Amino acid sequence: MAKVKVLMVCLGNICRSPLAKGILDSLVDHDLVEVDSAGTGDYHLGDRPDQRSIDVAKKNGLDITNQRGRQFTAADFKRFDYIMAMDNYNYEDIISLAESEEDKSKVKLILNYALPGENLDVPDPYFGGSSGFDDVYDMLTKACHNFVDKELNNG
Ligand code: 4NP
Repeated sequence: MAKVKVLMVCLGNICRSPLAKGILDSLVDHDLVEVDSAGTGDYHLGDRPDQRSIDVAKKNGLDITNQRGRQFTAADFKRFDYIMAMDNYNYEDIISLAESEEDKSKVKLILNYALPGENLDVPDPYFGGSSGFDDVYDMLTKACHNFVDKELNNG
């Protein structure tokens, strides 16, 4: 059976989407599901996640230090089944690169798995303190659990 492929996308690919990938990775069977992360921007190509994301992940038993920043490209529409935008800006930036309705249908706002239909943003914690990263971790954990229940546990 082909693996289900999920891509977590934020702006810089150093704060929110590496955490989202780390959380979803911890919930799934890697024989069945592949998870990656990317940024819509090109500010942090090849960079490790922000230390504050590494710290909140570590505090919760996750190691995200091996991730490296990369930029989202239109080729990702072909590779992934679910493209998860962290906020509405990411969502619009991703959609602007879509080449078909099928591409567009793959793009989801991640917090709609926590609070359906509300179209809420995972706030960008980059310019704030470390408590913002705890809040982001909690939101993403809820959304990832619900994503697994809704989209992956369909047997
Ligand atoms: P992220 O946060 O999108 O959650 O990775 C950001 C990190 C860096 C920048 C913007 C957002 N930046 O402009 O460098």
